[in-house]
Amino acid sequence: MGSWQRLLLFGGVSLRGGGGTSVPLGRSQVLVCRRQLSGGDSETLKQRRSQILSRGLPKQKPIQGVKQVIVVASGKGGVGKSTTAVNLALALAANDSSKAIGLLDVDVYGPSIPKMMNLKGNPELSQGAVIVSTPQDIALMDAHKGAEMFRKVHVPVLGLVQNMSVFQCPQCKHKTHIFGADGARRLARTLDLDVLGDVPLHLNIRETSDTGQPIVFSQPESDEAKAYLRIAAEVVKRLPPPLK
Ligand SMILES: Nc1ncnc2c1ncn2[C@@H]1O[C@H](COP(=O)(O)OP(=O)(O)OP(=O)(O)O)[C@@H](O)[C@H]1O
Ligand SMILES: *[C@@H]1O[C@H](CO)[C@@H](O)[C@H](O)[C@H]1NC(C)=O
Ligand SMILES: *[C@@H]1O[C@H](CO)[C@@H](O)[C@H](O)[C@H]1NC(C)=O
Ligand SMILES: [Mg+2]
Repeated sequence: MGSWQRLLLFGGVSLRGGGGTSVPLGRSQVLVCRRQLSGGDSETLKQRRSQILSRGLPKQKPIQGVKQVIVVASGKGGVGKSTTAVNLALALAANDSSKAIGLLDVDVYGPSIPKMMNLKGNPELSQGAVIVSTPQDIALMDAHKGAEMFRKVHVPVLGLVQNMSVFQCPQCKHKTHIFGADGARRLARTLDLDVLGDVPLHLNIRETSDTGQPIVFSQPESDEAKAYLRIAAEVVKRLPPPLK
């Protein structure tokens, strides 16, 4: 499975863009990972292992000062999680300037570390997940699995973001649905979830992301930035109340 981004709001952390302006990044909440020990070969080995692991591994702990955690996930690589996470963080900061927002990129499902540490189980997150998918069937299948996984571990899915649903020709303004028009919307209906918004396939999004000038920061008035700002507003509406 691809990497899973978690968007965190940390007190005091700020995300700096190129122009020397700093975007205050807000406070949020706790992110908890629960891992279960796998069965050992013998009872003694099992006991020994759990002794060692209980000593050596970090316990579930709230992240101090973090009141809300949003996971940006997909079941698939390269569908735009990082781009979405970055622009959503900036858009959330723009939505409420009293919040400080941090961004953390974590590969929760990369199998290597759990395998090397002999760990099983899913990460347990206390807040909400946002699932990013392109409208293709194949990406949607993975998004479907992702949504079910979050349900199993009781993480509310705040909704789906449909990435690259439409390409508008900069010359003639004709709109083309390269990956299909409405896949995420159909999936949302099937899963009884909301679509939080559509992100167009746009050269500006690609270029600004790849040069470290995310569009919400560098061109906040553009239609593409507005797509992320709308998504942030939808996310804010659906966030559970912050932890004390
Ligand atoms: N809406 C968009 N329009 C144009 N380009 C985009 C769009 N969204 C993302 N991209 C570009 O697509 C590439 C992959 O996006 P991104 O890195 O966000 O995907 P990802 O899901 O985080 O990938 P990975 O699974 O490897 O972490 C990047 O070069 C990004 O700039
Ligand atoms: C959208 O999907 C495309 C194609 O997989 C990907 O390259 C891009 O990064 C994604 N962008 C967003 C914002 O989701
Ligand atoms: C922030 O989000 C809320 C909740 O969706 C919305 O009502 C409000 O208009 C947004 N504010 C800005 C500045 O976008
Ligand atoms: Mg990424």
